[in-house]
Amino acid sequence: MKKVIAFAGKGGVGKTTSLALFLKFLTENDSADILVIDSDPDANVGDVIGRKVDFSDTLASKMQELKRKIEKQLLPLDMPKNQIIEGDVFSSIIEMDDFDILEMGRQEGSGCYCFINNVLKNVVDTLSKNYQFTLIDSPAGLEHFSRKTGRDVTDLIIVTDPSKMGFHTMKRIIELIDEVSLKFENIWILGNRFPDSLKEVLEKEVENLKKNNVKLLGFFPDDNQILEYNFNGKSLLELPDSNPTYQIAKEIFKEII
Ligand SMILES: Nc1ncnc2c1ncn2[C@@H]1O[C@H](COP(=O)(O)OP(=O)(O)O)[C@@H](O)[C@H]1O
Ligand SMILES: [Mg+2]
Repeated sequence: MKKVIAFAGKGGVGKTTSLALFLKFLTENDSADILVIDSDPDANVGDVIGRKVDFSDTLASKMQELKRKIEKQLLPLDMPKNQIIEGDVFSSIIEMDDFDILEMGRQEGSGCYCFINNVLKNVVDTLSKNYQFTLIDSPAGLEHFSRKTGRDVTDLIIVTDPSKMGFHTMKRIIELIDEVSLKFENIWILGNRFPDSLKEVLEKEVENLKKNNVKLLGFFPDDNQILEYNFNGKSLLELPDSNPTYQIAKEIFKEII
């Protein structure tokens, strides 16, 4: 069965890190086709997996070019605009050895971020049909969800660190899911950088939600090696198998696939 898995949560809680660990697990254990959609304009998945992404590699750059062509009336008249956009999206896909990436990038100038968000929203469905696994790194803001971008997502992983703001965003996302009637097969809570002493707090919090489609996935510890890799710009895909967080990641992500 095809899986579309999105990572959400407050900025800085570890969404991109968790996605990279999941990606490492998938590429090492499965020969399935994998697509990573980096839809967070504030950061690049490329940074944590050792693929430098230039603006020209991003969908934002293609859309900028498209706008220019529209303004100068350089587009073929006989081709529907959405067909052109779809073509641009497919041609923005970067092929790596074991997976593909689509980098949304940040739209330059005064243009609103929602244009490109809408483009993506309309193609996630088409794109993900071609892959066994689609992993989406979501932006920190919640607009992504309130605009129903998540409608094709099977599994939502809400990441939180042990902080009031992390918990607050987690709860707000769950409320929004109800408010806009989004449907996910599974909603998972992932506690990142948790000391043993605080695990119970999140366990209680999830229990108190009283929602049987929201499940606690597990906890990652604060990990010096991850910090060090980030600091030195090393790819998390190259973490040694012995890394304690990766060991946990392998166990908990098994539950999802
Ligand atoms: N378990 C962890 N242990 C140590 N550092 C972590 C851990 N998870 C994330 N980090 C660090 O925290 C910072 C933010 O993580 P990131 O995954 O980029 O968050 P987000 O994508 O949610 O904004 C990065 O510097 C990352 O290396
Ligand atoms: Mg990120």
